[in-house]
Amino acid sequence: MLSFYVLIILLIVSFVVCVKVSPREKDSKRNIVLIVADDLGWNDVSVHGSDQVLTPNIDSLGYHGVTLGRYYSNCICTPSRAALLSGKYAYTTGMQGWPLTGGEDRGLPVTHKILPQYLKELGYATHLVGKWHVGSSREEYLPTKRGFDSHFGHRLGSIDYYEYTYEENWTIGKVSGMNMFRNQTAAWDAEGYATDLYNNEAISIINSHDETKPLFLMLAHLAPHSANEGALLQAPPEVVRSMRHVESPERRIFAAMVKKLDDSVGDVVEALSRKGILNNTIIVFISDNGGMTSGVTVNYGSNYPLRGIKLSPYEGGVRVNGAIWAPENVASHLYEGYVHVTDWLPTLLKAAGRDPPKNIDGHDLWNKIMKNKVSSRSEIVDIDDMQGYASIISKNYKLITGTVFNEYSNYQGKELLGVIGNPPCYIDAIKNSKAYKVFTKMGRSVPIDISSVRNALKIECQKQIKADDVICYPGNGTVCLYNIKKDPCETTDLSKEYPELVNKMLKVLNIEKKRVIPRVPTIRQPRANPVYFNYTWDVFVDVV
Ligand SMILES: *[C@@H]1O[C@H](CO)[C@@H](O)[C@H](O)[C@H]1NC(C)=O
Ligand SMILES: *[C@@H]1O[C@H](CO)[C@@H](O)[C@H](O)[C@H]1NC(C)=O
Ligand SMILES: *[C@@H]1O[C@H](CO)[C@@H](O)[C@H](O)[C@H]1NC(C)=O
Ligand SMILES: *[C@@H]1O[C@H](CO)[C@@H](O)[C@H](O)[C@H]1NC(C)=O
Ligand SMILES: *[C@@H]1O[C@H](CO)[C@@H](O)[C@H](O)[C@H]1NC(C)=O
Repeated sequence: MLSFYVLIILLIVSFVVCVKVSPREKDSKRNIVLIVADDLGWNDVSVHGSDQVLTPNIDSLGYHGVTLGRYYSNCICTPSRAALLSGKYAYTTGMQGWPLTGGEDRGLPVTHKILPQYLKELGYATHLVGKWHVGSSREEYLPTKRGFDSHFGHRLGSIDYYEYTYEENWTIGKVSGMNMFRNQTAAWDAEGYATDLYNNEAISIINSHDETKPLFLMLAHLAPHSANEGALLQAPPEVVRSMRHVESPERRIFAAMVKKLDDSVGDVVEALSRKGILNNTIIVFISDNGGMTSGVTVNYGSNYPLRGIKLSPYEGGVRVNGAIWAPENVASHLYEGYVHVTDWLPTLLKAAGRDPPKNIDGHDLWNKIMKNKVSSRSEIVDIDDMQGYASIISKNYKLITGTVFNEYSNYQGKELLGVIGNPPCYIDAIKNSKAYKVFTKMGRSVPIDISSVRNALKIECQKQIKADDVICYPGNGTVCLYNIKKDPCETTDLSKEYPELVNKMLKVLNIEKKRVIPRVPTIRQPRANPVYFNYTWDVFVDVV
């Protein structure tokens, strides 16, 4: 009799334990694939309404999952990658301002724990393929010393798509070296177009992944960043030829670079499906900042009609593409709440079954995004004491103070949008894309109407700006205030109309300014010159 009761109790206990533990165990085993594009602008993905440059695989992630309509990042690569990895505003880690150059002994301080370190603690296998750019002067800054089991890719801002050289303009002349590494070793054996190379590496990691562990794969593509001066735009000729409908010859090459990036997203989705783990994988796609329509690293990307480009806190520099595909059983939707680059760390940790850390700026938005609930984020702060601006988004308004690069904070890229004849058919491209086919075959319907998403994301400017119109630029004590919901193109300064709101926002900024870790100046160390390292940009500071 006693044993009967013991049996019953055991049964009840095991039932309760099963019910309590299994969903969590299942949750904690979800794989995460984080794909980051480099300098991909608002108007460079077709989900935002243009048929000129088609990105059916990238768009499908959102159509079958969640399209982020108000995803914000930093306007420069090093700060946005530091924020992505740490979950902290870049100005609180000293990583704000001009991106890292090859001769600098600077990096995201190792005192900050980063996403792969958290995931490794949860048992994840962690791999970085592609760009790093948050420090490579010392071994301790390298990805394999900071939570990644492996790294294959470039450590600095960009490389040549075929030779993997990175070049800088020093006072002694041009300085150049190879910047492709496999873990700590120069990858002299690497061959092929960089986007293919990174794509193949990502697929081989997926194929050989040991499923007893969850997988974290960060695929930080070079594309569509420009390469070095003299050969800024590079894509396989046959792909460029397939873009003949693009009127601008430069943007035609850029479109081919984006096509290779989009194809890679399709290949990754297909590889996950073939491996049989797509149903347990979260895929995030983001751009690090806006497109670089003009200037030193011009790639002929377009953020039009948004104002500003990469390096500017105006919308074109910071409002970028974001999409999530998740195995959750949720209705696909367009998420209109604010999501910021710092939010990925807590959000993905939550998705992996861990409570997010407290000492960060990011918000855990996992359930809000998945269930289409109001975002807990209503404020986004960006401070750059090097360029000299501070900006804050608060609810519907954005305030910019200090000084910005005016030449990067105007309207650019409209002239790049011309099409010869008819553009390719978008719906056909979607239906023929690998990602769409895989998701559809999986039984994930598209309850959301594709054209309704595109229409909702098509930016209508409140006012058309003509060349001789005077628009607000911050500086000399002038601040600029915009209603970015009603006036997404930031045409109309409201600071005179709402002085109290300006004061309120300035107060928040002044409090935030106390948290700034001052940006140290960019100091070039001649000993970093690749001539001393067999023509590679390698670690040049030995720490004993
Ligand atoms: C380096 O790379 C290989 C695979 O490419 C991996 O197996 C190895 O563990 C990596 N990590 C380190 C720290 O060397
Ligand atoms: C490189 O330096 C030379 C001479 O100072 C200058 O003319 C040129 O514009 C610079 N190029 C870039 C990309 O900064
Ligand atoms: C995913 O699919 C595979 C086979 O197709 C199946 O064995 C596995 O249980 C599925 N996993 C989840 C989490 O649904
Ligand atoms: C600030 O004032 C100086 C001197 O009057 C002027 O040269 C400069 O263009 C002004 N800057 C801005 C951003 O208005
Ligand atoms: C030095 O560079 C060459 C390519 O220029 C490469 O073949 C060789 O293996 C490198 N040597 C070492 C020691 O890494």
